[in-house]
This record gives sequence, structure tokens and C-alpha cells, in this order.
Amino acid sequence: MTKRGYFGSRLGIVLATAGSAVGLGNVWRFPFMVGHNGGAAFILLYFGCVLLLGLPGMVSEFIVGRHAQANAARAYGAMHRGRGWKLIGYLGILTSTIILGFYAVVAGWCLQYLAASLLGHLNGDSHYVEHYFQEFSTHPLKPCLWAVGFILITHLVVARGIRRGIERASKVLMPLLLVLLVVIAVASCLLPGAEKGVEFLLKPDFSKLSRGVFLDALGQAFFSLSLGTACLCTYASYFSRRVSLARSALQICLLDSAIAILAGLMIFPAAFSVGIQPDSGPSLVFITLPNVFREAFTAIPAVGYVVAVMFYLLLVFAALTSTISMHEIGTAYFHEENHLERRSAAWIMTVACSLLAVACSLSVGGWAGLQVMGRSLMEFCDFVTAQVMLPVGAFLTSLLLGWFADRQVVYNEFTNNGSMHSTLFRVYMVSVRYVVPTCILLIFLNQSGLLNVLTALFASH
Ligand code: PFF
Repeated sequence: MTKRGYFGSRLGIVLATAGSAVGLGNVWRFPFMVGHNGGAAFILLYFGCVLLLGLPGMVSEFIVGRHAQANAARAYGAMHRGRGWKLIGYLGILTSTIILGFYAVVAGWCLQYLAASLLGHLNGDSHYVEHYFQEFSTHPLKPCLWAVGFILITHLVVARGIRRGIERASKVLMPLLLVLLVVIAVASCLLPGAEKGVEFLLKPDFSKLSRGVFLDALGQAFFSLSLGTACLCTYASYFSRRVSLARSALQICLLDSAIAILAGLMIFPAAFSVGIQPDSGPSLVFITLPNVFREAFTAIPAVGYVVAVMFYLLLVFAALTSTISMHEIGTAYFHEENHLERRSAAWIMTVACSLLAVACSLSVGGWAGLQVMGRSLMEFCDFVTAQVMLPVGAFLTSLLLGWFADRQVVYNEFTNNGSMHSTLFRVYMVSVRYVVPTCILLIFLNQSGLLNVLTALFASH
């Protein structure tokens, strides 16, 4: 077999893996969920979920990947004699391919908005901005080209390999992303009336909490940490044997959460300062925000222009480090299992994801008839991955690690052969055996509507 690539440094490991975690989920989905669920109380729950479930879930995927040092399918197969466990790896490859298909459409929209903000095409009143988005996103050709273009950029990075492609891109893009985020967040917090937005983010109102909010926070934590797609497992297969998996997971969880908070500090103060409600869902980034930027900086339009350009550049960078990781899962598989050159393996993913992306994009506009179970193909892909495949992948992984895998193998990976964290290992085992599977089961039951049926059943007894 061809020699495998490795991340060259600890910083490279953290930046590349955090790059996968930090994406549209942080900069777009998190602020919308916070806006929708009443602010700071939701954020506290989200942090709870990241630490209680995300952290052990991430360590589990790391253990599987680094133990086998192989692609997802082979890595899961190596954790237990039973051949069925390999299916978690296949499920991960399929899930990430589908996510990349629809994620690339939104990433393509970000590219178009970057070009449009650079050329000053987003200047206009709120009706104009809304019309602009409707017309562009339903156009039969333009969004397809941007989506395929985004996948091709991703391809170029992935085809170059682990160290020269993925690690190098992450080392450039992640610091740039952080700088842009901090600059925009500071500009937003300096606006008159911005304190209301900061207060919304930092002052919890527990009366807003319901069971639905709790489960929303769990789902957001999963998507944001790239859990359940075998992505973390694939990246961990390139980790060195010396690195502490628990410490790396903690650093990545903290970085991902910090970036989500910074994204909130970028959006809420600006939105509150011009009196716009930031709870508009998918259109937040493409309809609400151009209005927010224009109105917030009317006094100095040049600042509004620069902030808008920086914002869409930030979205493109964040999306790119995530699409790279999704692409790598399948590329590693085809490369290793089908003995293909890395470039040829990458082309398989690129072509498959591009076809899906074109179909998803068309299902929003030109081919409105392209529906699955009453949703457009784009919405269906989002639904079936986030609400079914992702929880199933993470649930099965924790069952495998907690109950079926050789405990000595898990211990050796967690503690680097007994040299660190052996007390923490017991805490990890309890959480991976009981806490993680139970909570995931709850999310799953809630999202499939079964929780309501069960609670109604109990209530009637
Ligand atoms: N975590 C990414 C985000 O927050 O945008 C999304 C993601 C990346 C999901 C990689 C799944 C994955 F394999």
C-alpha cells in the first residue's frame, strides 16, 4: 500500500481539525439558532452539550482513527471482529458525501455574495436585497457553477495531500478567519446601541428554555463539531502517536465554541443596533445581514463596504476548511481501498459531489419538482444527514467504543499506552457507555417525533 500522509505538527492537527469543525455551522447556523431560541440560556445549554457529549464523542472518533491509521471503513472494521462495524465507516463516507453536496451550494452562494459585495452589487433597500437573493438562488445556471467551482477549489487542496494540501491550507485560512472574525465583532460591538445585542448573548433568560430548546442545542453541537460523519476519525488517522487525543479534542471543542460566540458578537450587536430581528433562519446571512451592514454603517458607507466584503470572505474561508474535511473522508477511502492514485480518488468525490450539488441547487429553483418526501432535494439532504445519519453514526460509535471494542485498545489510545490521563479514562468510559448513547437516543426520538408519542403514552398512564 502507498505510504500514508501525516499532519506535521500539533498546531497543524488542531488547526486542520478545528477547520473542519468551524464552518457555516458556526457563522450561520449558530447565530440563527441562538436568535430563534432566546439567546444566552441556549448558549449555556450548547456549552453543556459540547462538553458532556461532544468532547467524549470526538475522543471516540479520534481513538478509532488513530488506532487503525486507515480510512473510515477500515478503521471502524479494525475496532471489533464483527464485520458489521465497518458499516459505520461506510455510513460516514455516505453522510459526508451528501453533506458536501448541499453544503457546496450554500458555500457557492457565499462566493457569489463575496463577488457581489466586492463589486458593490448588494447596495439597495431591503426589497432589493431580498429580490437579489430570490433571483440568484433560483437561477438555473449561476448557483450551480458557483457550487461546482467551490468543490473544484476543495479538490485542488485535497488532491495535494495531507501536509502540503490540508495542513498548509488550514494554517493559512484559520488565522485569517480568526482575524476577520475579531475585526468584524469589534466593529459591530462599537456601534451605538450594540449593548442590547451583547446582553442578549450573555444574559441568560431561563424562562425561554423548553425540552425542544435542549434538544436543539444537542443537534447544533453535533453538526458544529463534525461529529458522526467519520470526519474526525479520518483526520485522526493522520495524527502522530504522541499527541494527546483528549487534550486535542478539548482544544478543538473550545476553539469551535469560541468562534461560535465571536460569530454571535459579530451579528447580534449590529442587528440590534439597527433594530433588525436576527431570527430569520436560512436567509439571515443572505437577506438580513446585507441590510444590517448597510444600515449600521450609513454614516461611513466605506466601512459598511469593507465589513460586508470581509464577512463573505470569512464565510468562504470557514466553509472551505469544512468542505476539505468532508471531501477527504471519501478520497482517503477510494485511495486506500481501491488502490487509486490520490488524485484519481479525489476526482471520484469531486464528480459525485458536483452532480449532487447541481441537483440540490436546481431543486431550489429550476427543478422545483425535484422533491423527496415533500421537501426539495436540498432540504431533504440537510434533513436526512443532520437529523438521521449523523445521530446514528455518533450513537453507533459510542456503542462500539463503550461496549464492544477491546477495552485495552481504547485505554492505550486514550492514555498513549498508559503514559497520561489514566484517571480521566474512567470518566470517559462512563460517558461513552451511558451518557452519550442515552442523550443521542433522546435527540433521535425527539427529532423523529417519537419522543412526543412516548411522553404522551407515559402521561396517559
Ligand atoms: N462542522 C461543520 C460546520 O460547522 O459547518 C460542518 C461539517 C463539517 C459537518 C464536516 C460534517 C463534516 F464531516
